[in-house]
Amino acid sequence: MEKVILLSGSPRAKGNTAQVLEECKKVIANEGVEAEVISLAGKKIEGCIACYKCRDTKKCSLDDGLNEIIDKIRTAQGLIVGAPVYFGTPRGDLMNALQRIGMVSRGTDKFLSWKVGGPIAIARRGGLSTSYQEMLMFYFINDMIVPGANYWNLVFGAQPGDALQDAEGMDTVKQFSSNVAKLVKKLS
Ligand SMILES: Cc1cc2nc3c(=O)[nH]c(=O)nc-3n(C[C@H](O)[C@H](O)[C@H](O)COP(=O)(O)O)c2cc1C
Repeated sequence: MEKVILLSGSPRAKGNTAQVLEECKKVIANEGVEAEVISLAGKKIEGCIACYKCRDTKKCSLDDGLNEIIDKIRTAQGLIVGAPVYFGTPRGDLMNALQRIGMVSRGTDKFLSWKVGGPIAIARRGGLSTSYQEMLMFYFINDMIVPGANYWNLVFGAQPGDALQDAEGMDTVKQFSSNVAKLVKKLS
């Protein structure tokens, strides 16, 4: 069965990002595609140290739990990432994760190539578009396929639970998730 990983970059296990991704997971499951939310909450994801060891060892030399996430991403056909916006950019740990995941992919068998997905940005008020664009850079340098929706994947919310009240934002990310699942199925 095809699978989509939804990676939450928030330190809040049950914050807005996790809640939004749980809703996206339901949409994907309704399309008949397996979906799993993985959270960076409780983890400290370091930045790439440019050791290039992944080219030889086929995994990241840093042992902070990211290799286990990479193993799951490898076996999936889709990858959606959700980020809380911090000072106008995606949270640092998430970008650390994306840069290392990308490095391992490029240094090994390019496992990200042709995976379907895209980013979702969540914020109280400002920096959504810039964060969304910043995360898109990861997708497009790694030969990935990003479907659109009727709007960009931006959701407003400050306190946990607020994001689910943003009806337009939730409609957009649900349509996007449905498109991800449909495309995964078409490509399989
Ligand atoms: C360090 C920090 C920086 C933040 N910077 C922004 C910001 O630039 N723009 C904004 O609208 N919200 C900002 N926020 C609010 C979060 O984006 C917002 O609460 C979001 O819903 C958090 O998602 P989460 O519940 O998944 O962690 C910031 C929050 C923190 C903790």
